[in-house]
Amino acid sequence: MSDHAATLAQAQERVQACETIDDLKDAEREYLGKEGVVAEFLAQIPSLANEERPAAGREANRLKQSVVESVEQRRQQLAEAQIAAERSGEGFDATLPPPRTQRGSLHPLTQVTRELEDLFQSMGYTVLDGPEVELDYYNFEALNIPANHPARDSHDTFFCEGDGHLVMRTHTSPSQIRAMESLEPPFRVVAPGKCFRQEATDASHDHTFHQMEGLVVDRDISVAHLVSAMKTLLRGIFQRDLEIRLRPGYFPFVEPGFELDARCPFCEDGCRVCKKTTWIELLPCGLVHPNVLRAGGLDTEQWSGFAFGLGLSRLVMLRHDINDIRHLLASDLRFLEQF
Ligand code: DAH
Repeated sequence: MSDHAATLAQAQERVQACETIDDLKDAEREYLGKEGVVAEFLAQIPSLANEERPAAGREANRLKQSVVESVEQRRQQLAEAQIAAERSGEGFDATLPPPRTQRGSLHPLTQVTRELEDLFQSMGYTVLDGPEVELDYYNFEALNIPANHPARDSHDTFFCEGDGHLVMRTHTSPSQIRAMESLEPPFRVVAPGKCFRQEATDASHDHTFHQMEGLVVDRDISVAHLVSAMKTLLRGIFQRDLEIRLRPGYFPFVEPGFELDARCPFCEDGCRVCKKTTWIELLPCGLVHPNVLRAGGLDTEQWSGFAFGLGLSRLVMLRHDINDIRHLLASDLRFLEQF
């Protein structure tokens, strides 16, 4: 038997005897490593006579290849044996429950927003998005709230650094102007989103909250159109018809302006939610002020409209009986996991 054949036989025996991957790695190093047996064969070649070298090289390479193959084969056998052992006996219990995975869910604000978007879309409204960092012009000026107007007091505005023209929007109403600028009347839109006010926070006030603005522009819009749309909205939210009433309310961008109340959906004769009055204050609304239509580039002889501002945060609190608005954006999993 040549040296090579004998070495290969030894190598195969050594490899086949390995019972663990670690042992196999040692064997691999002994034969194929930098100072292993195969390397020794290769190192001898330069000292051979010229005519012997090619054959010696070929043989050494063949030896190397064969050892590589048997190591691979043994590695495969050991891996298969390990899986078989896990499956058959200890260490593998097919009856164990799988590791618990945590499923996420939609935030209650997202749920309400999507439901209302669906509802309004079914009534022919388009859903619009507006910037949260807004120009002073859209947030105030164009909405008939000029620089020194007292109505600005109720908007504790976060001004952005710079020349004061950029603000964090204090309501979603700027979307009204943006809608008039980008759409051809007649149109109906809703624009949900975040609003910001620099307020002392308490259970019913947060610096960040959610609203949904609504705007309908058409010919000869009257309060009757507004009332009818609001009744449909209520039916969508509470799944039944609720009596409503309008009280006068002042907002510079509507005339007349109203506060719309609905009969408390949670009681017959007064409860905690309606503060014993049987009415809940639901949303402010009104007919769009002509100055606002003009700011939006519309001809007030032809076009009129109604608008409303739905407090989404408050709606979510009503629906789920949440007693503190600050829970909504606190990102506390103990709160969020309930939805
Ligand atoms: N933008 C007002 C606010 O946040 C709410 C509002 C009132 C919106 C009357 C309207 C409206 O569209 O008609 O205080």
